[in-house]
Amino acid sequence: MLAERAAEAIAERTGVPRHRVAVVLGSGWQQAAAEIGAPHASIAMPELPGFGRPSAQGHGGMVHSVTVNDNNVLLLMGRQHLYEGYTPQQVVHPVSAAIAAGAEIVLLTNAAGGIRGGLRVGEPVLIADHLNLTARTPLEGARFVDLVDAWDPELRTLAKELDPSLGEGVYAGLLGPQYETPAEIRMLATLGADLVGMSTVLEAIEARSRGARVLGISLVTNLAAGVTGQHLSHAEVLAEGQAAAPRLGKLLRGILERV
Ligand code: HPA
Repeated sequence: MLAERAAEAIAERTGVPRHRVAVVLGSGWQQAAAEIGAPHASIAMPELPGFGRPSAQGHGGMVHSVTVNDNNVLLLMGRQHLYEGYTPQQVVHPVSAAIAAGAEIVLLTNAAGGIRGGLRVGEPVLIADHLNLTARTPLEGARFVDLVDAWDPELRTLAKELDPSLGEGVYAGLLGPQYETPAEIRMLATLGADLVGMSTVLEAIEARSRGARVLGISLVTNLAAGVTGQHLSHAEVLAEGQAAAPRLGKLLRGILERV
């Protein structure tokens, strides 16, 4: 299988037979990686079987191997999105490969628009649950996967112990790439969404189907459409990530030291 082939290549290229934790760094999270630690090996994603080249601006396209305390950690710098034309299987492949490479814990990060009143730009929010509104699934064939507590309660508790100011929210994953209309954001609020973005939900489903534990953190890079009168831009998303990088990096490092 492709995931196993990629896992073998990761082990070979990094010299690390098993990486116990994988972190996907999405939009706005690239600079946070520097705070986690210096990689002892790095691989360009296109050199790994089945991996593509993340193309959304601000995505690094590298896989780094870092050691935090005794944990071997894979940092996946960037991801592929459905809106780039990738299939659900291609979107989740790096997560599948990381789990095949030994990851028991998958930490998914992203940039999101804040829907719920009170959320502030620059604030990291733990994903407590999700709405998969992509109408797609990474699961091929008949695999019934339980998604109760898909976003691991113990890992969320651990993150909140580290940073008691962390809030939680429901993440709505949409196809994109257009940002939402104000009417769509009102609809999402009615459906129970606190955060909105264009990634992450398929990766979480795949990780749960493979038995890994999942922690998710959204960085609120903007308030969602119509919440303020402002227009939305990807440049704003990246700039907010840069501003929040030291805090995000410290949070990730703290989590990686304790899992
Ligand atoms: N909507 C969708 N995706 C996003 C947003 C948003 O407002 N901000 C960052 N990613």
